[in-house]
Amino acid sequence: MSYKNHIASIVSSKYILGDSLIELKKLKDHSVDMVFCDPPYNLQLSKTLYRPDATKVSGVNDDWDKFNNFQDYDIFTKTWLSEIKRILKPDGCLWVIGSYHNIYRIGYILQNLNFWILNDIIWRKTNPMPNFKGTRFTNAHETLIWAANTKCSKYTFNYQTMKQLNDNKQMRSDDWLINICSGKERLKDTKNKKLHNTQKPEELLLRVILSSTKPGDLVLDPFFGTGTTGVVCKKLGRKFIGIEKNATYIKEAKKRILNVKKIKSNEIKLLNKKISKKININSIL
Ligand SMILES: C[S@@+](CC[C@H](N)C(=O)[O-])C[C@H]1O[C@@H](n2cnc3c(N)ncnc32)[C@H](O)[C@@H]1O
Repeated sequence: MSYKNHIASIVSSKYILGDSLIELKKLKDHSVDMVFCDPPYNLQLSKTLYRPDATKVSGVNDDWDKFNNFQDYDIFTKTWLSEIKRILKPDGCLWVIGSYHNIYRIGYILQNLNFWILNDIIWRKTNPMPNFKGTRFTNAHETLIWAANTKCSKYTFNYQTMKQLNDNKQMRSDDWLINICSGKERLKDTKNKKLHNTQKPEELLLRVILSSTKPGDLVLDPFFGTGTTGVVCKKLGRKFIGIEKNATYIKEAKKRILNVKKIKSNEIKLLNKKISKKININSIL
């Protein structure tokens, strides 16, 4: 991508502070190439969780994750997914990430809306939170559904690039082994506590965006949080629209993205740990 196009792509990216159920209605039909959604999980946590040493576990107890019941969650999901269907280009694609709490409900609803599932991908967490009480298996993965707008969509898949990112072997859907977001990448608040409970790792978004978009494509994220989608879009020369209803999150996302630069193809190594030395991905940057 030329420098001029790169600048144009940054200028045309957009942040929207507001409720996606309202803001999505304002976006034009068939106007975006890809949508990445990391919606509320509806975890239904009712009690505080403690470790064996009596310290409190910082779980996802945010108001944005609270719904009265499954029916309310399903109505919410159907509302935003229907808008996404309208906004996506006919050859566009959708990614949704979730856990066992919500991903089956979302999958059912999106199939009923005639999205066409291409893969379900397992993000296996290298450093998951343990099951402190020992009452179940450790919950150590999240699932991503990748779906085309319809069965006939000519969606983008950068097959060769993903193969190169995987030591020249076809990339599989069942073993995206990636750390949960930690260290320097994790945004902190003024008390040095994590700013957001569910900030996603850039390495995960790298695979999502690199595999299914072209340079200059427009990516929409209606649950923008700390702006991980925007960070990776900017690094890869893609445009984005981020919608987020929490003013602090979107303010911090803007600050975070302001400091990001588009990467060169040889720097992709910094974003992906499992890399072939022979990689040449100029064509998709
Ligand atoms: C699972 S988090 C997304 C985290 C994000 N992917 C990241 O890496 O930081 C879901 C986000 O959606 C936001 N949210 C929930 N309901 C919303 C709505 N109706 N409209 C806009 N944002 C919403 C929450 O405030 C929260 O930040």
